[in-house]
Amino acid sequence: MVAIVPAAGSGERLGAGRPKALVTVAGDPMVVRAVAGLVSAGVDDVVVVAPADHLDEMRSVLPAPARTVAGGADRVASVALGLAAIGDADVVLVHDAARCLCPADVTRAVVAAVRDGHGAVVPALPVADTVRRVDPAGRLVGPVDRTGLLAVQTPQGFAPDVLRRAHEAAAGSPTASRATDDAGLVEALGGEVVTVPGDPRAFKITTPLDLAMAEALLTAGDVSDGPPLAPDVRERSSPHGAEVRR
Ligand code: C5P
Repeated sequence: MVAIVPAAGSGERLGAGRPKALVTVAGDPMVVRAVAGLVSAGVDDVVVVAPADHLDEMRSVLPAPARTVAGGADRVASVALGLAAIGDADVVLVHDAARCLCPADVTRAVVAAVRDGHGAVVPALPVADTVRRVDPAGRLVGPVDRTGLLAVQTPQGFAPDVLRRAHEAAAGSPTASRATDDAGLVEALGGEVVTVPGDPRAFKITTPLDLAMAEALLTAGDVSDGPPLAPDVRERSSPHGAEVRR
């Protein structure tokens, strides 16, 4: 089982002045936590897609089995570059580094659904907020029925041929670069995407408040089913990346 971790974004909204994936949460870079979580769920090959100008730094923090390749101009291009670097696998996961507290059980449920024969699987949660559509001036233009709305998370899981076909089609599409996830590319081709239950702890760290919430959760120990915490990773790693064994 292989995972691609798109981590080549600049993280401007976090305002840390460096790539978001390298920002630390309770002592460890987000990307290290995200990889550790995937490994604890049974992933044995991880390709991290890093900003081209931070490849060495990314390599220096990541333990095996993570490998690193340079990213592209947008998320879709970065995932495609990761996809080009993977070998044979029965399941390909795509997981945002910024969802670094995702519990291993969510990943296992996604993988199980792909192995059950679903070509594309996403974890998702009901939307708690009231949602409205607005016009360009910011005025409400009508209600949106919350029933049937889900917020989609990662890791998203795919049969390898399904993800490859979706990215091949995206490469020739002028609108695909705006896609914010891979399941959306499968949908755009008319493919079926199924859901498994997501988890609030798989939230995406985007703003300084998200970062503070992630720190608070780790400090409170409220990630009991989450990825291994820093000491577990550090015990098994040399400063320049030794093995994280399962
Ligand atoms: O910006 P946003 O948080 O929506 O990005 C989602 C994910 O896509 C992040 O993990 C980010 O690092 C990644 N990304 C990427 N290559 C880009 C832009 C974003 O891998 N060029």
